[in-house]
Amino acid sequence: MTSAEIIEIEQKYLAPTYSRPPIVLDRGAGVYLYDMEGKRYLDFIGGIAVNSLGHAVPEILGAIAQQSAKLMHVSNLYHTAPHALLAKLLVDNAFPARVFFCNSGSESIEAALKFSRRWANSVGGEAKHEIVSFEHSFHGRTYGAISVTAQPKYHEGFKPMLPGTAYLPFNDADALDAAISEARTAAVVIEPVQGEGGIHPAQADFLRRLRQLCDERKVSLIFDEIQSGLCRTGKLFAYQHFGIEPDVMTLAKPLGGGLPIGTVLMKPHIAETLNPGLHGSTFGANPVACHVALSVLTKMIDERIADRAAASGEILKTKLRHLQNQFPDIKAVRGLGLLVGVEFEDKVEGIVAACRDRGMLIGSAGEKVLRLAPPLVIDPSHIDEAVGILGDTLADRKA
Ligand SMILES: Cc1ncc(COP(=O)(O)O)c(C=O)c1O
Repeated sequence: MTSAEIIEIEQKYLAPTYSRPPIVLDRGAGVYLYDMEGKRYLDFIGGIAVNSLGHAVPEILGAIAQQSAKLMHVSNLYHTAPHALLAKLLVDNAFPARVFFCNSGSESIEAALKFSRRWANSVGGEAKHEIVSFEHSFHGRTYGAISVTAQPKYHEGFKPMLPGTAYLPFNDADALDAAISEARTAAVVIEPVQGEGGIHPAQADFLRRLRQLCDERKVSLIFDEIQSGLCRTGKLFAYQHFGIEPDVMTLAKPLGGGLPIGTVLMKPHIAETLNPGLHGSTFGANPVACHVALSVLTKMIDERIADRAAASGEILKTKLRHLQNQFPDIKAVRGLGLLVGVEFEDKVEGIVAACRDRGMLIGSAGEKVLRLAPPLVIDPSHIDEAVGILGDTLADRKA
């Protein structure tokens, strides 16, 4: 079959919820992807911050083969080893917590909201149910997750949203005090680095004040580390940059090495309010997804992938700032580790398409920001290649 035929079938049979470029990706190896015509692309979006170890990673392929031949699914009605070992490794490397497994980022946000409300209910009754989130946030597409996603475009046509949500300006410590109430607020949910909203890192003082208020007013602090977690920002978890811990942390994207998995870590005082039957998922804690996640996390820790991401992120940002000197329509270069945004004066969709034509895949975060989230295993030659392609693209536009 040709790529044109595949695209025709997609257009006829798939729900029109995505607009895709006219290429059909066929295989990946390391930090490169190849389309059906054999054209090579440098992957600087990594399946939206998922393929952190690259494509066709031998350890991941081995883990899939090993576990899928042994046991693929039994449901959460039974004990199995992979989810137990994965939960232990996560907790050993994060904070004292209990772990719940599901299948996606949005599902982990739903679970985090439910668990936080359950605990808040136990300490403050039903009045203590409000959830605070931040402007330009993105937490996913299910109803709870879009309700705490403070971007009106995601709500259009789907209202009403979940009641009891409040949106505050991001990085504005002065706005926290009036909005967080011991009587009414159950939880605050925040991305330590806002991804979809334009790649905005939180300020340390702001997060520390938030932690202090949540402690004083008995509010569950949820860190959405679905995009920022697992080495992306140069630490295993982004909260580790700020000297504070959340009460609840959500993880997803890179954990399964490309297989779907979502995770919630919650402090013991929240876990104590749960009991069997309260929440669940048929596929959550899937043995193959968990065994693969165990191999991903082990490799990340053993090979110090966070340090690599920190070093590569600095090189990438320095080179992008050189580009900014040549092209004044670049307004800002920002980010943490290898979650990098390049903000332009105008819409970036043309730049994304032109880079693709030149053999590099990148994303956007909002209309005017390029999102670079490459595999964390890139080396300096890949950074040179990426910045070269972007520079040539921008020079072409100017000519
Ligand atoms: C910070 C953040 N939270 C939640 C989600 C939703 O995750 P999923 O698409 O796996 O449901 C995303 C996805 O982009 C995200 O970046």
